[in-house]
This record gives sequence, C-alpha cells and structure tokens, in this order.
Amino acid sequence: MFLLNQHTDHRRPLDTSDADTLSVAAAREVERFLRYRDGHTETTLISLTALAREIGVSSIHLKDEGHRLGLGSFKALGGSYAVIRLVLEEACRRFGRDVDVSELRTPEVRAVAAGMTVSCATDGNHGRSVAYGAQLVGAQCAIFVHSGVSNGRIAAIAHFGAQMIRVKGNYDDSVAEATRVAAERSWTLVSDTSWPGYERIPGLVMQGYTALVSEALRQLPECPTHVFIQSGVGGIAAAVAGHLSVLLGHDRPFFTVVDPSRAACLLESARAGRPVKVAHAQSTVMAMLECYEPSLVAWRVLSRMADAFMTVDDEDAINAMKRLANPANGDLAVVAGESGGVGLAALLKAASDPALRARIGLGPNARIFLINTEGASDPSLYEKLVGATPAHVSAKTLKIPNSHRARSKTFSAPHDYS
Ligand SMILES: Cc1ncc(COP(=O)(O)O)c(C=O)c1O
Repeated sequence: MFLLNQHTDHRRPLDTSDADTLSVAAAREVERFLRYRDGHTETTLISLTALAREIGVSSIHLKDEGHRLGLGSFKALGGSYAVIRLVLEEACRRFGRDVDVSELRTPEVRAVAAGMTVSCATDGNHGRSVAYGAQLVGAQCAIFVHSGVSNGRIAAIAHFGAQMIRVKGNYDDSVAEATRVAAERSWTLVSDTSWPGYERIPGLVMQGYTALVSEALRQLPECPTHVFIQSGVGGIAAAVAGHLSVLLGHDRPFFTVVDPSRAACLLESARAGRPVKVAHAQSTVMAMLECYEPSLVAWRVLSRMADAFMTVDDEDAINAMKRLANPANGDLAVVAGESGGVGLAALLKAASDPALRARIGLGPNARIFLINTEGASDPSLYEKLVGATPAHVSAKTLKIPNSHRARSKTFSAPHDYS
C-alpha cells in the first residue's frame, strides 16, 4: 500500500510549538546533554554502495542505531533524555534557580531524583531507555509491559532496576494502564506517545531523537533526496522529518513514512485526513511498530512534513534483516532487529515497482537515507529469523575495510553541526 500525502496541511510550516521542540537550538542542547552520559559515542553511518548500484540509485546511507549507548536502539536517545530533563526541572522548581545538566550527579539533585518515580508503557525499547535514565539519575522507575512483550525484552528492562508491571492486552492497553496508575500515584509518566492534553513530555522524547539527525548531517557526504523511515506511533519519523524541514526548508528530502501492514495507523490516518485508531489485527513480527493509534504531536508534524505513507509486510521486514546480515558484494553486514530494517524493506519494495519509482523520483540520482532503528533487541528471535546469531553477523563487519563507513563530508548543512 502506498499513499501520497494529500492532507491540506501538507508542506505547511510546523506548528510553532513543534518548531520549538525540533529547533536547531533544542537539537544542540540535546547533544550537550549527551556529552554528560557515560558511553556516549556517535553511531556509525554506513554506506551501502553495492546495494545502491544493484537497485539503481546513487547512494544509500544507513545510520546504525543498533549500538546506541549500549541500549540497542535509537530509543536510548529519547526516554532517558526526557527523564534527565524532568529531574532537572523538578530540581529547578525546588531550588528556585536554574539547574544545569552538569549538576546531575550532585547529592542535591540526586536527592530530588530519588523522590521521583518515572513510568511508561513500552513494547521494549522505550522502556529500556526510561529505565536506564532513571538508574542514571537515581529515580524510581515502573515500566508497564503488555502480553506480547518477550521475556528477553522484559529482562533487559528489569536489568536497570525498574519495577516491571504486566498488563493484559496490547500496547494501547498498557498505555492506558500506565496512564491510570501514574495519575493515581503521582508518578511522572514519560510516554513516547501523546494525546490531547499530554504533549510536552512526548515532545521531549522526540527532541532527544534529533541527536541522530545532527550526527547524520555531520557524517553524510551529501544531502539525501529520499528518506524512508519506519513508524510505530510516528515519533521518530516526526522528529527526523520535522528537524530536517526546520534545517532544509523546501530543499528537504522526499519523506516516506513506513508502517507494518498489520498496524498501519499512520497510513490510515493519512487516508482519513485525521489521526485514527486502526482495528487490532494479527500481531506483526515488527513488534516495536505494532501501534494502533498515532501520537498526536507526531501526526501534527507528519501531516505537514511526510510526503508519502506506505506499508510493508512481515516477510518484507524479515527479508530486509537477512539482506542486511548478508549484504551485496563488499557492503558491511548490519545487525538489524525486526523493526530495525523496515526503512530498507520499504526502499526495496518501492525500488522493485517501476511505476512507484517514477512517481517518487527514485532514479539514478537518488540519495537515500535510512535508519537501522534497532539491533538484535531479542537475540533468540533474531537468530530464528536470520539463521545466524547477532555475534556471527557482527563478526563479518570486522573483516571489511573502514572505507565503507561513511565519514567524509562534502556538503554544508545550513547550520553548523561540526
Ligand atoms: C526499533 C524501533 N524502531 C522504530 C520504532 C518506532 O518509533 P515511534 O513509535 O516513535 O514511531 C520503535 C518504537 O518503539 C522502535 O523500538
């Protein structure tokens, strides 16, 4: 399924609050915060040169978020950043003065954090990030997981000391329960999805994601012409599309949002012209994207900045994982989880359809930007689907020269990201 964005807001400027959330100044502040975190290094941008040649485009660059802060997904940037910001804001209220991130480890700020409980619902990766952030600042943490979240993913969150609360039903049910309990117990709900009256904290989560755009702009040799990006509630797609549009205006790339066909809440919202909840279908292998209702803030950004919406099937997602694990001639192997390679799955699907290629200008001059949003966040499932362990696939990359890691930059982004 493919749909061009025909919303009346398409290509209109961002709402002012979203423009602030995704501004250049905000993105700089996110990077400043990141520098205070142990283990922070930029993630790699990989050039898939042989694959680009094979499908007849000029270049494909893939930002590999599988190693972000040791948490295995880009989500490491959002939830934990929001937790840090919220603790600092609380300290600021209590102390009656500004409190900077450089004070995060002081006994006074840690005492404030110790009195806070942060909570959220999760499919896996967002909860891991919130739990990590809570441990970092010394706050209490409670994470709500629905019946479909695997034991491996639950253990990975519990590892950061979070109290795990199981909820019957699906992701939406866990969001409802987390919201109810947080209100009842005065916990701070750090959700990655937003709804009327609850926008600021999910906005901070999205703001955290801008760091990967800032890094990519320093790493890309040229500005991309096309971006294919996977969506659950739409937060990462909106952060990337929104921040790129703030930076590049009408010169921004053609932006395609990609849903699993079994949970296509963004595509169906685009079809309806307003955010809609889709019916629950069979589960999808793209577990992190199995969301049935878009985030309100994300929708507001994407109704303006997405150019197209498309869906991919489970087998497309699994094929993309395998393609990345067993790459074309000389390209680096990449470990991508079930939801990680979905942008590539959409590119491959679009590239194999001549009419669609023509419609979106996917020709020999196209420069594609993709994000591997997660590594093997469930290693045993990864092995079952790909037929090799994550370690085995990673070991292949060690044999490939560094030249495949895109580094040299020849174009200038409109703002100084150096
Ligand atoms: C690996 C991965 N990719 C993509 C997404 C989608 O992000 P969003 O829900 O912000 O659209 C998620 C969400 O959890 C994720 O974990």
